[in-house]
This record gives sequence, structure tokens and C-alpha cells, in this order.
Amino acid sequence: MKNLSTRTSYFTDSVIRRMTRISNQYGAVNLSQGFPDFDPPKEILQRLAQVTKEDFHQYSITWGAQNFREALAQKQSKLMKRTIDPNSEIVVTCGSTEAMMAAMMTVANPRDKVIVFSPFYENYGADTVLSGAEPIYVPLIPPAFTFDADVLESAFKQNPKALILCNPSNPCGKVFTYDELKVIADLAEKYDTYVITDEVYEHIVYEPHKHVYFSTLPNMWKRTISCSSLSKTYSITGWRLGYIIAPSNIIDVAKKVHDFLTVGAAAPLQEAAVTGLRFGEDYYKTLQQEYTDKRVLFLGGLKRIGLNFTKPEGAYYVLMDISEFGYKSDVEFCENLAKYVGVGAVPGSSFFKEPENRYIRFHYAKKDETLNLALEKLSKIREVIPKE
Ligand SMILES: Cc1ncc(COP(=O)(O)O)c(C=O)c1O
Repeated sequence: MKNLSTRTSYFTDSVIRRMTRISNQYGAVNLSQGFPDFDPPKEILQRLAQVTKEDFHQYSITWGAQNFREALAQKQSKLMKRTIDPNSEIVVTCGSTEAMMAAMMTVANPRDKVIVFSPFYENYGADTVLSGAEPIYVPLIPPAFTFDADVLESAFKQNPKALILCNPSNPCGKVFTYDELKVIADLAEKYDTYVITDEVYEHIVYEPHKHVYFSTLPNMWKRTISCSSLSKTYSITGWRLGYIIAPSNIIDVAKKVHDFLTVGAAAPLQEAAVTGLRFGEDYYKTLQQEYTDKRVLFLGGLKRIGLNFTKPEGAYYVLMDISEFGYKSDVEFCENLAKYVGVGAVPGSSFFKEPENRYIRFHYAKKDETLNLALEKLSKIREVIPKE
């Protein structure tokens, strides 16, 4: 038989999703893959129940149901400080995952270079490979996860087609400051490079940090492809609703890519989610407060146990430093953590290009009782986890 495609030989299956399976295998409290164990807003669920009895069972328009795009345009126009045209500047996708892949295929030809900050959300590595592009990694240096502007410029000098910007950032919880974004913007302008943003955590940012949409920086609208989703904002990761917002000349191409990748996002779910897109500001304030409280609870617990971690500025992940346990492999550490301690985490090495082995990632998008249970188990970590 002929060989299968070699494309996938350049990456493994998702370590994040694998850790969910391992957590399930050992019955561990799963703080690996980032999804909530609490319900989405009841208004959205009530609307979903109605929608099943209405006429939303067939394909919606391929680039998104009119109703959904209009509600989204209204919400994002306020946040992104410009009037977004629901007809020509939006494509609705199956999650930000598809949005990012479609954005990559919209921008990059095979062998084009794309700048990726490291640590990075693991999909970006696979996205670049699947679209035939070649990543240039630029380190975000722990513990503050800042970048060196000269190193970034040397990456831009390699003539990249695009830079991928995850802000707020998974896994490190960094929220890029305006000044940092301006450095990126100036370089993008100087070297004529597109910026593909992944802003799925746009509403999960902790005071005093603020989320700045990259497209709002001077002159950046024309070269920014803003990707995001409803997964995290409305606790509906399983609904697979995301979107791309960009100027119409870019959206015209993204529409074609999206059409042939998936045809469209689920029509009934788009309709039900419109309820969420129409929520007022209070909803987002409450969401921010709830995650702020969860951060206090979980990080406070880690601190009491005496574990070392970096404090996230946004998103809902925390990188814990496992150096004290002396493991050579963070993958083995995570397997033992699930098996013996009963808590699922993601090995940090899956996010770093550099040979980094000292972090694991927890997420805290969980009910307080789940987080308390995880903390109780973690309090015994030093007695229970096998020594290397
Ligand atoms: C940075 C980032 N982008 C995208 C996703 C996936 O988003 P979606 O569910 O919209 O595909 C995640 C999920 O954890 C994420 O952390």
C-alpha cells in the first residue's frame, strides 16, 4: 500500500486532549483540557430548547447565519471600536480552532514563514504544518513571559507572511500590554506582515490588566485577522462556534477556505447562541468576577500547599513549576500526577519550542467544589507522587 500523507508526521496527537483521556482513565480531577464543569447561562439553554422546535435544522449560510453575524457585529463593533459589517467582515466558523486554521490557509502559501511566540497553544504548531507554512518561534521569557524586541525583529527579517498572537495567552496567562502590542504592530507594518490573533479569552482578564484588541492599534485593522469564539465566554466549548473578523478583502478568501473545510457551523446552535451575543455588559463583568474569584481560590490553595507557580493576568490557566520534584520528564510527572495524586494537568513541554521541562499547566474553569477537591488531593502531592 502507498504511504499515507507525511504531513502529520511533524506533530503528535494533541497532548492536551490526551491528558483528558488519561485523567478519565485514572478517575482524576481533570484540570488539563480547558473546559468548564458548570452550566452555560440558562437563557442560552432555554433558547436552545425552543430552537429545536423551530426551523433551524438545515445548513445556515456558509459564512454564518444572518442573525448570528448581526448580533456578533453589534457586540464586537463596540469592543473593537469600529463598525463591523456583518455581511462582508465576518465568517462564522466551527470554533476558534477552525477560525485559526482557515486564517492560516487564507494567508499562507506552502513554505511561507509564520512567527509563533513560544510557549504557544499547541494547535498553532499543527496549524502551520497543515497549511504548509514554517513556524519561526520567538520565546516569551519566563517568569514574566516578555519578549526581546530585537529577537522579534530578527524573526520579522526572515520575511514572514504572518505572526500569530494569542492574547490573553494560553498557557502562560500573559496579557500583552499596549506598548508590547505597539512594538509588534510597528514591526508588522515595517515588514508588511499579517497578524492572526486568537482572542478567545478576551473577556477573561484580571484587574488591573486590560485586553486591547490588536486590530484597534493604529493602522492595524487592514492587516489583522481577528479570531475568537464563544467557547470560553459563554461556557459552551462543545458548541463549536467561533469566528473570523477582518477586512472584506481578507474575509472574501477566508469564506472560500471555510466553505470547503466545513460548510458551516451548526445552525441551531448559532441561533441559540444569539441570546448570549445580545447579553449586556453586566454579563461580562460577572464572568470576569467569577473567574477572578476562581483564580483567588485556586492560586491561594496552591500557595498554601507551598507550590510554585506564575500568576496569570488573563485566561484561566496556571503554570506550576515542578523543579522541586526532580523529574526529567514532565510527561511522566503528569501521568503520575493523574495516577497517584488524582489530578489531571498538561505537561508544559507541549507548549514550548525550547527544551523546557519544568512546568505543568492546570486550568481552573471548574466549580469551586471541583477546585477544592483538586487542592485537597494536591495537598498530599509530596507524600504520594513517586520519586524519580
Ligand atoms: C488559545 C486558545 N485558542 C483556541 C482554543 C479552542 O477554541 P475553540 O473551542 O473556539 O475552538 C482554545 C481552547 O482551549 C485556546 O485555549
